[in-house]
Amino acid sequence: MASQSSLPTTHRALVLHSIDTPLKVESRPLPQATPGNVVVRVLAANVLSYGREILDGTRPYPYPKPYVPGGSAVGRIAAVGSDCSTFSPGQLVLVDIVARARDDTSASYLMGIHHGFSKTTEKLAADEWRDGTYAEYAKVPLENVYALDEERLLGDSAQGGLGYTVEDLPYMFRLLVPFGGFRDVDLKVGETILIAPATGPFGSAAVSLALAMGAKVVAMGRNGEVLEKLASTSDRVKPVQITGDVQADAAAIKKHGPIDVFFDISPPAASSSTHIMSGILALGRSGRVSLMGGIAGEISIPYAAVLFNDLKLHGKFMYERQDVRQLVRMVEAGVLGLGGRIGARCEGVFGLEGWDEAFDAARGNAGPGQYVLVRP
Ligand SMILES: NC(=O)c1ccc[n+]([C@@H]2O[C@H](COP(=O)([O-])OP(=O)(O)OC[C@H]3O[C@@H](n4cnc5c(N)ncnc54)[C@H](OP(=O)(O)O)[C@@H]3O)[C@@H](O)[C@H]2O)c1
Repeated sequence: MASQSSLPTTHRALVLHSIDTPLKVESRPLPQATPGNVVVRVLAANVLSYGREILDGTRPYPYPKPYVPGGSAVGRIAAVGSDCSTFSPGQLVLVDIVARARDDTSASYLMGIHHGFSKTTEKLAADEWRDGTYAEYAKVPLENVYALDEERLLGDSAQGGLGYTVEDLPYMFRLLVPFGGFRDVDLKVGETILIAPATGPFGSAAVSLALAMGAKVVAMGRNGEVLEKLASTSDRVKPVQITGDVQADAAAIKKHGPIDVFFDISPPAASSSTHIMSGILALGRSGRVSLMGGIAGEISIPYAAVLFNDLKLHGKFMYERQDVRQLVRMVEAGVLGLGGRIGARCEGVFGLEGWDEAFDAARGNAGPGQYVLVRP
């Protein structure tokens, strides 16, 4: 095992004890790198636009208490367990919060967000992989860290680098969520994808990603101004505003068709929005639907349209490990841009003590390409 002796014995972590009390920054013993795990010095961790809603119980996500919340992140390996063969201290890595039980990879949950919905994931989150990344150091399953080519990503363009900053890199996770869905429904170059709502954090990332993957995009949402802004980024993006008239909206989408894929990334608030029905009705023959939103309840589907058009309905929770590797390769190859190359902007970086402002900033900067980070 790599020595932890050069590391501090304690570190600062943001801790949630209960949804009724404010989070607290506490000093805790440094996590130890044991077999199967690594310890990462967290450099920049993502904040969800609805992060506060998770921690104050507005979105009733189940999680262990107390716990260290957190998002997917970028960090440096601080210490490795004895079975680690490729990572070494100092190495720049992505930290993926999708935890999967090693003895049942179908059981997954989001470390630092929720403990999942099975006894298996509840057990893991209560014990070995409980805490997230809003801490100076995080213990992470070995398979949840992904090597980054620091020279290529952060290097100067004169030396063949892409010239990104560390703050540009966590946006890869915004892109990864739709990537999981796109790969699941096998989005192809030249196909047309309807993305709705396209105006929010994940929806707008989906638009950037679809363009990089060679697709044409119909961007749908409520806010016409934001849709026009998205459309102004490429002549392969066509805006369609939700009017609430299912048939009229389906016809407006079809004008840009045939539509091959409908990617839905609705928040819970959009559960009764008409765009889901319009989107399914607008699909061409053998169209695919990727449902990735946060709707907890039920939605209606046009049964006959699904049947007669051979439609395929897919749901996707996050993405697969292979998707992470693939997306990192796309970014390192320069095929998929980050930062200014795709209009993504980090709107604020907050320390652990600034957690309250960080959640406000994430909610207030939830437009296309905007994101907020915690730097513990
Ligand atoms: N499947 C997964 O693994 C996975 C992973 C990550 C996130 N998610 C889900 O993705 C959802 C979207 O997350 P986010 O951070 O991008 O955004 P969000 O803040 O949850 O939602 C904002 C987006 O929803 C639109 N919206 C809000 N209320 C609406 C309504 N009543 N009708 C139609 N559109 C409405 C907004 O449009 P306006 O611009 O018009 O306000 C904006 O585009 C989350 O709720 C989350 O649960 C799923």
